[in-house]
This record gives sequence, C-alpha cells and structure tokens, in this order.
Amino acid sequence: MPDSYADLSRFYDLVMTSGYYDYDAYAHALLTRIGTRADVLELGMGTGLVADRLLALGPDDLRLTGIDHTDSMLAQARHRLGGRARFRREDVLDMSFPPAFDVAYSVGGVWYIVQDGEESWLSSHLMEEKDNETGLTNLAAAIRPGGSLLLSVQGPTDALTEPCPEVCSTRSTSRSTPKAGTPRTGCGSPAPPLPALPPRNG
Ligand SMILES: C[S@@+](CC[C@H](N)C(=O)[O-])C[C@H]1O[C@@H](n2cnc3c(N)ncnc32)[C@H](O)[C@@H]1O
Repeated sequence: MPDSYADLSRFYDLVMTSGYYDYDAYAHALLTRIGTRADVLELGMGTGLVADRLLALGPDDLRLTGIDHTDSMLAQARHRLGGRARFRREDVLDMSFPPAFDVAYSVGGVWYIVQDGEESWLSSHLMEEKDNETGLTNLAAAIRPGGSLLLSVQGPTDALTEPCPEVCSTRSTSRSTPKAGTPRTGCGSPAPPLPALPPRNG
C-alpha cells in the first residue's frame, strides 16, 4: 500500500529518536559490510535518519540513493540530507532500476530481521508472499553481480521497556510462529538498539 507511513510521518522522528535506536551503531555496522563499495541503495529510507549517519561517518565517495513510497517521509529525508543523497519515490513492488548498485540495505525499511532469543525470522512490510517475491525480484535486478543485501536485526516489539508515545501503540509486530520461509509483517516499531547485521556472504 503506497504512502503506508503517511499518518506516522509527523511523529516518526520523535518516536525513533526517543532512545530505542542507535543510528551511529547502525551506520558503523553497515559501513563495515559495505567496505569500499560505492553505489548503495537504501530501501525504505524513511526520514533519512540512517542515511544521515551513514553519509556522515562513511567515505566521501559513497553514493547513496534512497527509495520510499511515502511522500511525507521522503520529503523529510530530502530536507535532512539535501544534496548528499539521491531520492526516488518508489514502491519496491514497482521499482525498476538497472543493475547499478553494489549494496542494498534496509533498516526496518521494507524488510528486516527480528530476533527473539534463539529464534529469528524475516519480517516484511509487504503483506503477501507474492508481493515479497515481486519486491525481491525487482531488488535483485537493481544489484550488480556479487552485490549484497544487508538487513537490520531488531528485537521483538514486546521487548519495549519504556513508555511508547501513543502514536505507535496501535502498531505491533506479530509474534506468532511464522510458516517456514514466509516473511512476517510488521510496522518496525521501536525496539532495543540491536545494530548487529547478518554475516556478509562472499
Ligand atoms: C520503519 S520505517 C524505516 C525508515 C528508516 N529506514 C529508519 O530506520 O528510520 C519504514 C519505511 O519503509 C517505507 N516502506 C514500507 N513499505 C515500502 C514499500 N513497499 N516500498 C517502499 N518503501 C516502503 C515506509 O514508507 C517507511 O518510510
């Protein structure tokens, strides 16, 4: 559903910078895995909180493009980042890029990993399995051979230990056991700072 964060966008930065996320730690973890690769795509860039730290802490030649399907989120990213990044209003279900990127990443964007003790699973903002297949197919077309997809890891929503502003209390990540291979859906609500990313392959 396009514009899925339209209602939340006014409060997004307030919620996300209330202490649950450590954006510098996310940026450092990403940069370790990006290495010297220069063309980077952020999926679900939101208001640009991750991109801001990545660009501040990363090398000067890092070229970042962010996509998001919520206009009011992307507008904040443009305001925050100005000429430091490129922006495209895209839904992963429709996006069409040539293979121009070395790395794509998502920090609570379209896809992310939720870890609960020994158990971890792929979560998604896309509700249908066929939509996940379409989105991942579009993403694969945008990545150069040998490229990587980096997904953030966060705790389950019910790990919250601090009061949550009312705006996010109506959204939660399901904790039911997922069918094998099926991404869970959720809204990426605040969780403890868990900047660990999956090991880089290759
Ligand atoms: C939880 S926010 C994450 C924003 C940012 N990565 C951060 O960490 O602050 C999820 C973002 O993904 C975007 N999004 C969700 N589904 C999408 C889709 N199918 N295509 C493009 N963007 C999507 C939403 O609009 C929202 O801005």
